[in-house]
Amino acid sequence: MTSAPSDPLSRRDFLADTGRFTAASALAGVALPNVHGGSDETIQVALVGCGGRGTGAAGNALAVPNGNLKLVAATDVFDKKPHNSVGHLKDRFKDQVDVRERTFVGFDGYRKAMDCLRPGDIVILTTPPAFRWVHYQYAIEKGLNVFMEKPVTTDGPTSKRMFALNEQAKAKGLKVAVGLMSRHNYGMQELKQRIDDGEIGEITFMRGYRMHGPAAFFRSKPKPDGISHLMYQIQRFHSFLWASGGNFSDFNIHIVDHLCWMKGAWPIKAHAVGGRHYREDEDGTYVDQNFDSYAVEYTFEDGAKLFFEGRYINGCHNIYKSNAHGTKGMAIVSASNDCGLPSATFRNQKGGRDAMIWRSRIAREKRNPYQNEWDTFIAAIRAGEAYNEVDTGINTSLVTSMGRMAAHTGQEVTYDAILNGDHEFAPDVDKLTLDSDAPLMPEANGLYPVPMPGKKGMREY
Ligand SMILES: NC(=O)c1ccc[n+]([C@@H]2O[C@H](COP(=O)([O-])OP(=O)(O)OC[C@H]3O[C@@H](n4cnc5c(N)ncnc54)[C@H](O)[C@@H]3O)[C@@H](O)[C@H]2O)c1
Repeated sequence: MTSAPSDPLSRRDFLADTGRFTAASALAGVALPNVHGGSDETIQVALVGCGGRGTGAAGNALAVPNGNLKLVAATDVFDKKPHNSVGHLKDRFKDQVDVRERTFVGFDGYRKAMDCLRPGDIVILTTPPAFRWVHYQYAIEKGLNVFMEKPVTTDGPTSKRMFALNEQAKAKGLKVAVGLMSRHNYGMQELKQRIDDGEIGEITFMRGYRMHGPAAFFRSKPKPDGISHLMYQIQRFHSFLWASGGNFSDFNIHIVDHLCWMKGAWPIKAHAVGGRHYREDEDGTYVDQNFDSYAVEYTFEDGAKLFFEGRYINGCHNIYKSNAHGTKGMAIVSASNDCGLPSATFRNQKGGRDAMIWRSRIAREKRNPYQNEWDTFIAAIRAGEAYNEVDTGINTSLVTSMGRMAAHTGQEVTYDAILNGDHEFAPDVDKLTLDSDAPLMPEANGLYPVPMPGKKGMREY
C-alpha cells in the first residue's frame, strides 16, 4: 500500500454528508470476488485516452515484470490516436497487444472499451481530467480496477462527486492507482520516513518551484478553422480551465502533492498572486485562460506554510525543485523537476556537503517512479490487498485548485470553500458528443473569458 497521508478533511466532509454515506453503505455488502487476486491469470487492459501519457502508462503496465497483462481495447476522441498508440505499443510488446477491432472513437468510446473487459481487469484513464469522474463512474459500475492520471478533479463539485464515487469503489474492493508518481519514488519514500522520524524536526515551511519557458499547451492562439471549439480545447487542454484546471493544476500538482505528503496534512487555506504579463507576440494574441506567473502561500492547520512559485516565461531564471524546512534542519525533496532523485537531509537550513545527514541511493532499476507505481499496483491486485489512492488524488487535486483559485480570484480560499463551492467548470461533460459546443465558448469579442482577480468574486472566470 502506498504511504499516503491520512485524509481527515475528505473523511469529515464525507461523514457530514449523510445521503452520500447511506448510499455508499448500501454498497458495502456487495464486494466483488477478487478476480485476479492470488492467480497468474492474464489481466486484460483497456486504454481510455491514447495520448502521450496513456501510451506511456500502458507501456508501464505491459512492462510489469511477470505481470501477465494484455492490452485488448483502446479509445480516444480523435480517430488516429488509438491506432498510433496501439501501433507504438505493439512494436514494444508484440505478444501483449491484441486489440484488433476493439478500438473506438468518440465520447462514448469509454463504455465500449470497458465493455470488452471482465470484472477485475484494468482500465487506464488518461484523458484530460474533466472526464475522470465520468469514466471512473462506469469503471466502478463494471467492477474494474483502475489506473487514473492526475489531476483527478479540477473544481469543488467534481471533487465531492469523486469522493462519493470512491466510497463505492472501496465498498466493491476495487484497486485504484493514481498517477502521482512522486509517492512511488523510493528516495522520497525514505525521506518521508526520515521526516516522520524527526530527522529535520517539525516542518515549519516548504518551498516548491516550477519556473521555465512555456511548455505543452500552456498557451493557445485563437481556434483555427476546421476544428470545433470543443475539439480544439480538448486537444490543447492545458489552456482551458474546464478541461484540465489549466497549467497551474496540470503542471504544479506533483510538487504540491509531495510536499503535502511530507507534511502529512492538507493545507486549510491559500492566498496567492498571479497575472499574465505577455498575451501578445508577433503572431497575435493568445486566448487561453492561464496566467504566466503564480505565487501561492498555503497554510496548514498548525501554521506551517507551503510556498509555491510558478512561472512560464522564456528568458527568466528557471527553478524546478522542492525543499522542506524543519526546526532541526532542511530536506531536498525533489532535487529537480517533479520528483527527481536524490532526496537529502541536512542539519542546517541551507544545505551543503558538510551539513548533509543523508542522501538517497536507489538502485538503477528502481529509479523510474512511473514503473514503480505499476509494479506496486499489480502486486496489490495479485495479492488481493486493499489499494486505493483516489482520496489522496482528490485532495491533492483540490488543494492544487485551491492555490489556483486564490490567484485567479484574488481572494483567500479555504479548503472548505473550494470543496463546497458551486462553480462546476463543465457540468454536462458526460453528455458531450463530437458535435457539441464546448463547455467554454467565446464571448462576443471572440475571446474566451479569463480570470480577473478582484472582479468576479469567488468565480475564476
Ligand atoms: N503523471 C505524470 O507525470 C503525467 C505526465 C503527463 C500527463 N499526465 C496526465 O495525463 C493526462 C493526459 O495527458 P497527456 O499528456 O497524455 O495528454 P494527450 O493530449 O497527449 O492525451 C490525452 C488523450 O486523451 C484523448 N481524449 C480527450 N478526451 C477524451 C475522451 N472524453 N474520451 C477519450 N479520449 C479522450 C485526447 O484526444 C488525447 O489523445 C492528463 O491528465 C495529464 O495531466 C500525467
